[in-house]
Amino acid sequence: MSEILMESNYPWPLFKRGKVRDVYQMRDCLLIVSTDRVSAFDVVLPSGIPFKGWALNQLSAYWFERSKSVFPNHFIEKIDDRGMKVKKAERIDIEWVARGYIYGSAWRSYQRGERTMSGVTLPNGLQLAEELPEAVLTPTTKSEVGHDVELSRAAALDRGLVTVEEWSTLEEATFRLYDFYKAEALKRGLIIPDFKLEYGRVDGELIQIDEPPTHDSARLWSKEDYRVGERQEAYSLDKEFLRDFLLRIGYRGDGPPPILPPILIDQVSKRCVGAYKVLTGQATLKDFKLLSVDQVLASLGIKR
Ligand SMILES: Nc1ncnc2c1ncn2[C@@H]1O[C@H](COP(=O)(O)OP(=O)(O)O)[C@@H](O)[C@H]1O
Ligand SMILES: [Mg+2]
Repeated sequence: MSEILMESNYPWPLFKRGKVRDVYQMRDCLLIVSTDRVSAFDVVLPSGIPFKGWALNQLSAYWFERSKSVFPNHFIEKIDDRGMKVKKAERIDIEWVARGYIYGSAWRSYQRGERTMSGVTLPNGLQLAEELPEAVLTPTTKSEVGHDVELSRAAALDRGLVTVEEWSTLEEATFRLYDFYKAEALKRGLIIPDFKLEYGRVDGELIQIDEPPTHDSARLWSKEDYRVGERQEAYSLDKEFLRDFLLRIGYRGDGPPPILPPILIDQVSKRCVGAYKVLTGQATLKDFKLLSVDQVLASLGIKR
């Protein structure tokens, strides 16, 4: 299990290889295999992360079981440590992003003076990582090539990605799922400030597909260590830690991606396993010796 798996090889026809998951056609279903690949800025990095695929698979199965009463999803069963059988859907090419706090790209726009976010007016005076008056849906395109860009309701309808009814159903579903996941995470001492979901159509019905909030698809902050006005990476269990490290060593997604140093790989692995164990109540954040990006850089002798 501790062996790093960069590419799986299951005895089913390959449906697609995503950045992180290998998807197979298993009769009329799909088999989703979570590998140990990690991506940042939409680029798959050359280093694998021990236990990442395992942790993603366990956490996804756990969430899908629990959230199915909120909105139906594709999960059928877990078939092994890394694999789960799911309903095959016609994917809707939209990333349904919901934000309850201002951070990341939303914060960068706000800092530039932008006061609307996907059509919603934001108050002046917000600080980094501050909770928004109410959650905002900030959908983007889901494209196979290139980066995802902001997508308005009008543009989504115009491009025929969804019908008017589907948009309303999925907008509402995203807020409902956000409330559900956020409340569950809070019970475990984590804040989900934002996340992204995907949906698809199966036999005329809409279902949630892909993955629920994980290390890769959501931000996961420590409630105890949360401070408005500050960056949250030191104790967060999501991918922002890796992105921040990469930015600090000068990698922004262009050119060949760097090989990650062992200490960084270990820290990302702890965050993946941590996300699973903390969200499922099997461990607390304190059980993981998390380092901040500054500490990692210092131990590598890299000056900022
Ligand atoms: N139930 C499903 N039906 C069809 N496609 C799915 C389903 N669940 C996930 N997918 C797709 O399978 C892929 C999963 O692999 P992933 O590594 O997440 O890819 P990506 O590089 O697109 O993020 C994604 O493209 C996702 O949209
Ligand atoms: Mg994905």
